[in-house]
Amino acid sequence: MSVASRAGSADAAATACAYDAVELVVWSGTGNSRRVAVRVAAAARIRGAEAVVRSGGETAAPLVPNPLGRRLLGLLGPTHGFTAPWPLLRAALTEPAVRGTDAFVLVTRGAMRLGRWILPGFEGTAAVLPALLLALRGARVRGMGAVDMPQNWTVAFPAGSPASVAAIVARGDARADAFAARLLRGERAVGGWAQAVVGAMMLPLSLAYLLVARLMLAKAFFADERCTSCGACAAGCPHGAIRLLGPGRRPYWTFACHNCMRCMSRCPEGAIQGAQGWLLFYAWLTGLPVAASVVAWWGVSAGWASDTVRALVGYGWIVAAVWVAYGLLWLGLGVPGLRRILGWTTLTRRYRRYRGPGHGDSVRRDAA
Ligand SMILES: Cc1cc2nc3c(=O)[nH]c(=O)nc-3n(C[C@H](O)[C@H](O)[C@H](O)COP(=O)(O)O)c2cc1C
Repeated sequence: MSVASRAGSADAAATACAYDAVELVVWSGTGNSRRVAVRVAAAARIRGAEAVVRSGGETAAPLVPNPLGRRLLGLLGPTHGFTAPWPLLRAALTEPAVRGTDAFVLVTRGAMRLGRWILPGFEGTAAVLPALLLALRGARVRGMGAVDMPQNWTVAFPAGSPASVAAIVARGDARADAFAARLLRGERAVGGWAQAVVGAMMLPLSLAYLLVARLMLAKAFFADERCTSCGACAAGCPHGAIRLLGPGRRPYWTFACHNCMRCMSRCPEGAIQGAQGWLLFYAWLTGLPVAASVVAWWGVSAGWASDTVRALVGYGWIVAAVWVAYGLLWLGLGVPGLRRILGWTTLTRRYRRYRGPGHGDSVRRDAA
């Protein structure tokens, strides 16, 4: 065999694909997870497979021309609260044609750069829970892992500088490519067990995020006085969670919001803020001492109720209190002076927005 043909067959072996069709279902707020999915799809296509990237819940045309062809299903999304956000869990539970198929779960997590160091994120149970659900539904889980991408939680942290973002993304791209190469060669790429174990110990915290904190955070968004009511936030929201209400068509966030940060990252005026002070108010309203007095009253007047009923009533109280308090906030924001004051007193007004690389239109104003 000539050197050239030996090199050719080595190349073919390196690029041979164990699958005929690769279907990637992604939920992504600011584009990090979508970027990873697009890279996995490109790696599959280079190796001769058909590949499609679609959003969870979307129906796609059947991919596999050859019914005997091997199919790989991938679920991709971000980490929220050290676990998988609801839309990713829902996709693991409802995605059709899962039984008997090879599958993987790849999540992104928020990394930050400190000087020369890139501090990794923490995915906890974000990958293992959807993987477990897929396995319970009869899938063969061939891959599980996490990719560090830039931190996008702009309500809590300002986005990194463009140089930091570029450094983290370059490393994330390399990690995504290596993961894809192993899977597409037909190898198992199941990792992240240490994170999964610690994440399992932190499940109560994750559950508190999914059931309570997520709702409060959704109700902390508001548009400051720079909002032009252009509707970009509502149009871009993946869950239709933003409504433009009232004569001024001011954005109002419903409980359907999953804190994906897309609205904050895409607002052309940089006008969407997270009212951190109001979050403290929610914490007071739903925690001690207010909740303690409500529970004490309820305990006396409803001694007949079981613990489950009391827990449900307590949860109902949290949801109702946050909903009413946000309604009042939204009404107050109708007063221009108040809107200006609230806008100026949030830290997010000073935070640089995070936009995933290549994610949508440009932001004209990052911060005031
Ligand atoms: C509400 C919220 C919670 C987050 N929680 C975590 C977390 O627990 N651990 C972590 O590493 N990153 C966390 N992140 C960061 C994101 O997972 C990370 O930036 C991800 O790459 C965003 O992906 P996306 O652009 O596809 O949505 C969180 C982000 C948000 C908005």
